Amino acid sequence: MCGIFSYCSYLTERDRKYVCQVLTNALARMEYRGYDSAGIGVDGDSPTDPFLLFKAVGKVAALKQLVDSAVPTPAPGTAQTDKQVDMTKVFLSQTSMAHTRWATHGVPSTDNCHPHVSDPLTEFSVVHNGIITNYKELKLVLQKRGYKFRTDTDTEAVAMLCKYVYDSQPNKRLNFQSLIKTVLKELEGSFAFVFKSTHFPDEIVAARRGSPLLIGVKTERKLKVDFVDVELPNEENITATASDGAGLLAVPGANGPGPKLRRQQSRAFLSEDGMPQPIEFFVASDPAAVIEHTKRVLYLEDDDIAHIAEGELHIHRLRRDDGVSSVRAIETLEIELAEIMKGQYDHFMQKEIYEQPESVVNTMRGRVNFDTGTITLGGLKAYLPVIRRGRRLLFVACGTSYHSCIAVRPVFEELTEIPVSVELASDFLDRRTPVFRDDIAIFVSQSGETADTILAMRYCLERGALCLGVVNVVGSTLSRETHSGIHINAGPEIGVASTKAYTSQYIALVMMAVQLSDDSISKAERRQQIIAALHDIPSQIKTVLSLDKSLQQLAKDTLAKEKSLLIMGRGYQFATCLEGALKIKEVSYMHSEGILAGELKHGPLALVDEHLPVIFIMTQDSLYPKTQSALAQVTARKGQPIIICNEEDKSVNDTHKVIRVPRTIDCLQGIINVVVLQCISYHLAILNGIDVDFPRNLAKSVTTE
Ligand code: AGP
Repeated sequence: MCGIFSYCSYLTERDRKYVCQVLTNALARMEYRGYDSAGIGVDGDSPTDPFLLFKAVGKVAALKQLVDSAVPTPAPGTAQTDKQVDMTKVFLSQTSMAHTRWATHGVPSTDNCHPHVSDPLTEFSVVHNGIITNYKELKLVLQKRGYKFRTDTDTEAVAMLCKYVYDSQPNKRLNFQSLIKTVLKELEGSFAFVFKSTHFPDEIVAARRGSPLLIGVKTERKLKVDFVDVELPNEENITATASDGAGLLAVPGANGPGPKLRRQQSRAFLSEDGMPQPIEFFVASDPAAVIEHTKRVLYLEDDDIAHIAEGELHIHRLRRDDGVSSVRAIETLEIELAEIMKGQYDHFMQKEIYEQPESVVNTMRGRVNFDTGTITLGGLKAYLPVIRRGRRLLFVACGTSYHSCIAVRPVFEELTEIPVSVELASDFLDRRTPVFRDDIAIFVSQSGETADTILAMRYCLERGALCLGVVNVVGSTLSRETHSGIHINAGPEIGVASTKAYTSQYIALVMMAVQLSDDSISKAERRQQIIAALHDIPSQIKTVLSLDKSLQQLAKDTLAKEKSLLIMGRGYQFATCLEGALKIKEVSYMHSEGILAGELKHGPLALVDEHLPVIFIMTQDSLYPKTQSALAQVTARKGQPIIICNEEDKSVNDTHKVIRVPRTIDCLQGIINVVVLQCISYHLAILNGIDVDFPRNLAKSVTTE
């Protein structure tokens, strides 16, 4: 996954330094999306130097240093100079772009950094998030026509293709949007693009298919309307083949007039007197990059093409789609800048661990009525009868989100008495798992952009299943393409390691199970017990957080030097073991494995001796006696377990290292216990000198398969 951004200012004086700051600050806000290299492109000073590139390997801080030097990165095929550019140059209007990269094609290097350009004179430039799966074929065809490639990326082929289409039209009649539309029709795979061209100064075109893209709008005056019309083309004109007979592309207008767009002014940007007005647009992969400039945003849909020119935003469609709305609403972002800042914390992960007493409240807010003992999830209300008649509840997710599904599987089975299966999205697709119209498929995803989960959702949609999303990011692909669902309202989660999203997903899913069993009188008492227990969860999490210093000491004294760690539990705590092990793996790089205690004697017990650290989760529930016997198996082999148990559990003697946590109902205890493991993993990472918010090789959301 990568982060793309573009800043367009119209009739608004901005100097080059300010523009660069807007770009690099935006990248810093999206750094969790990818951070092995970054680059920006800003308007140049002359026709021979029309587009200045700054590219750096490493995190955005390295790029900022390069920009401060004012020495640009040479365009491919041009020589490096140490000539500084004038950062005080003022633009009345300008368009610029930025990209922070998580390498998929080609190692992190300045050559492979975006923006990518079509030629040394940067006739066409592009930033891209996604993967073009047919780029090799395109590259081959273009190379046969003399185009020279200089990078290992798929994106460069797109920049070249733009130039090919431009060069191939005999009369150069295509406008920017039509040219890009022709290019996009040749691409396969997923993308969010921003294009810029020296042939169309002060314009950009943005497009998306499968990767998120939104547009922030900032203007002094109030917008006339809070939507933008989608402009549909007059399709029959796009028929001609490329003039060079290559047949590679249907280049509109090659043998006749270009497509007639029903050109209409976007009513949103009309001024009283019809005169052009100062305005700024911010195109981004993530609202976090836009929020400090404006809260007014518009989300693009798949196959939208946005064209920004002369202070206006026009939305076109790559193909005529029935059922896609003919307008794009300009919405108001509900996140605050403070939510995407670290505040007094050292890292986003630490902040998000400590936010959990509040984030779980936000998940329950307006949904749990503790006075009447009822739960109402608005998004599911209309579907309850269908879900209750479902033949199977099919949970599909990845990583931490998968663990939250494992955590709630027992309570769903108990309360709904519907068979439940929990699937890892990638494996679910690999097996081409049979799915039926009376399946209820539930997709859990913090980002709502995880490629495997989205592909699994589309697989289930095609087979007629009812598809529900449980997501954190409003406007994300999963939340928009599922029939309905629940927003977990945990607030932006920036740290790559998911923490507050897990506990909020957990609670949202338990609320869903409780609401589904509303029609069962026999489950009434159990429901009331769960709802009563939900009320105390925030304060109980706070109690665990008060143990943080001792957990830091424990990590330092007992675990920091170790190479491997086993985490054991069973029943509701199996998910806690899996999630704790993932946290430790992904932020401290220490091998860790979650083990079902009931499986110990089937093999893992062979690992246990006096040296191997074991964390044993034995909070009190119906399986406690079985967990005790598993503990005895470990201590009989001289194992030295660290035991997580309840505060008032007298049967756990303090000869072992013991972490005592508040007791809650069995199906919610995992929410309390996991906070211990989140804290331990955080401290292990810090002790290992790891940048916990940017663990190596990982990205916040895996938007490619
Ligand atoms: C969890 O700490 C990881 N960041 C990762 O496993 C993540 O949970 C997984 O990639 C799924 O992401 P999603 O919830 O955004 O779909």
